[in-house]
Amino acid sequence: MIRFNCDYSEGAHEKIMERLIQTNMEQTPGYGEDYHCEKARELIRAACNAPEADVHFLVGGTQANLTVIAAALRPHQCVIGAASAHIHVHETGAVEACGHKILTLPSEDGKITAKQVEDCCREYVGEHMVQPKMVYISNSTELGTIYSKEELSELSKVCRRNHLYLFMDGARLGYGLAASDNTLSLEDIAALCDVFYIGGTKVGALFGEAVVITNPELKPDFRYFIKQRGGMLAKGRLLGIQFEVLFEDNLYMKISSYADRLADKLRAALTAAGYSYLVENQTNQIFPIMSDEKLGQLQDKYCFNYERRIDETHSAVRICTSWATKEEDVEALIKDL
Ligand SMILES: Cc1ncc(COP(=O)(O)O)c(C=O)c1O
Repeated sequence: MIRFNCDYSEGAHEKIMERLIQTNMEQTPGYGEDYHCEKARELIRAACNAPEADVHFLVGGTQANLTVIAAALRPHQCVIGAASAHIHVHETGAVEACGHKILTLPSEDGKITAKQVEDCCREYVGEHMVQPKMVYISNSTELGTIYSKEELSELSKVCRRNHLYLFMDGARLGYGLAASDNTLSLEDIAALCDVFYIGGTKVGALFGEAVVITNPELKPDFRYFIKQRGGMLAKGRLLGIQFEVLFEDNLYMKISSYADRLADKLRAALTAAGYSYLVENQTNQIFPIMSDEKLGQLQDKYCFNYERRIDETHSAVRICTSWATKEEDVEALIKDL
């Protein structure tokens, strides 16, 4: 079985495994206060050109989302996101369990617009309703789409005008930044968002997300929130070491680019063979629409993520490439498609 259903089917990039072994017997302080975490923080601040940013390492995406949101909002405040947002659809109500409502906006492609946010702020006024205080976006989105620099700038403006924090979930940030049509840099994201995270779990790490806080209002006591929510890893150096490797020699972008180029190759073959898509994008997640007959022929050899039924005889699936995808597996799939 060749797994294309997600981008976290394997362990970690070999350079990370080597470094974990090399450093295994080092004695370090716990809870992210070691030399490796500090070095990784410096590398991330430099990559974002954000020397004043606070950087915290968390184990997973759901944990990063709920910790950031719970730390930023007061009890009566809510977060705005797309109806397809990971925090809304796939996190078991983790944000709601922290006491905050998610206001969802309709979206066909996983993105939300500045106008939608502005309209939402106009609608939610007064103490009989929750108060919007944060906008959550993911980049790339759950549907593999990305925000352009212009779109992110517009969102940032509307957020600042309405006193909202802009939070970017970057579980797949590398694959977004390496897309052939991307216009954003890490530096832009640091300048336009108040807080965001750089995903490691799906981009070469065994596990780990690096939360980058640029807005000084969000910095105080963040470690208390991490600890109280159970997110402070005693052997925190395991996170620091992984991000140190990912941000040395541009490894993060190199492996993201590798995955996106394989996805481009697969996408070109799908398009040439006449397949259409649930949503078009240029990142590592592809959403082709296939006949149920074709899916039946492929199911013994390949694993895809079933997305949704399109009509009586067709369904949309998700096919992912990753830093670990083998080129020969993509070629085999192209042949079978
Ligand atoms: C956009 C996005 N954010 C967050 C997560 C959550 O990550 P985790 O499974 O590590 O909690 C995912 C997982 O698929 C995701 O796709």
